[in-house]
Amino acid sequence: MKNFKILWAIICTLLIVLIAVAYKFVQGSVAVSDDERVAVVLSKDERNLILSEMRNFLISTQKISEAITNDDMELVATLAKSAGMAAEANTPGSLLAKIPLSMKTLGFDTRKKFDQIAADAAELKIPVHSRRQLDQLMKNCIACHSSFKIIEEVSR
Ligand code: HEC
Repeated sequence: MKNFKILWAIICTLLIVLIAVAYKFVQGSVAVSDDERVAVVLSKDERNLILSEMRNFLISTQKISEAITNDDMELVATLAKSAGMAAEANTPGSLLAKIPLSMKTLGFDTRKKFDQIAADAAELKIPVHSRRQLDQLMKNCIACHSSFKIIEEVSR
């Protein structure tokens, strides 16, 4: 009977730890913010890394749009490929752990949409199709920006 109680205590403790880890994984490192958005709390370097990735996103989007206008589908494929999942290789795991699951999902989906643009530009070579894909992809930029912002953690 006593052993049974100890066993239950262990199971309950493990369950609580598991729930806490899962919660942290889904929620990430966040804080309340003064606007409607969720504030993701990152170190100075991590914030700088994400913001520089963002500026690259803007450059890629502009360049791909221009290449579509110029009917240069080979360039569309090259540019989109470099903005795709391959670019995620440099993101440290410790940074990914701080990002809420819903933001990560949106981020990876955006990378995959760039990969799809690359694949279709290389294979189909139809500018208006690529244009539509880019139009859809940019809705991800809007969705994420209206939901999240990044603040720097106060150094201790
Ligand atoms: C998964 C979420 C997410 C997606 C998708 C996303 N962004 Fe961002 N972006 C952010 C966040 C968060 C910030 C910081 C906003 C803040 O703190 O106010 C940001 C900031 C930026 C900035 C400002 C960079 C700076 O130096 O301050 C630019 C430019 C930008 N994004 C462009 C884009 C473009 C273009 C796309 C789509 C191709 C895109 N982003 C997609 C989350 C995202």
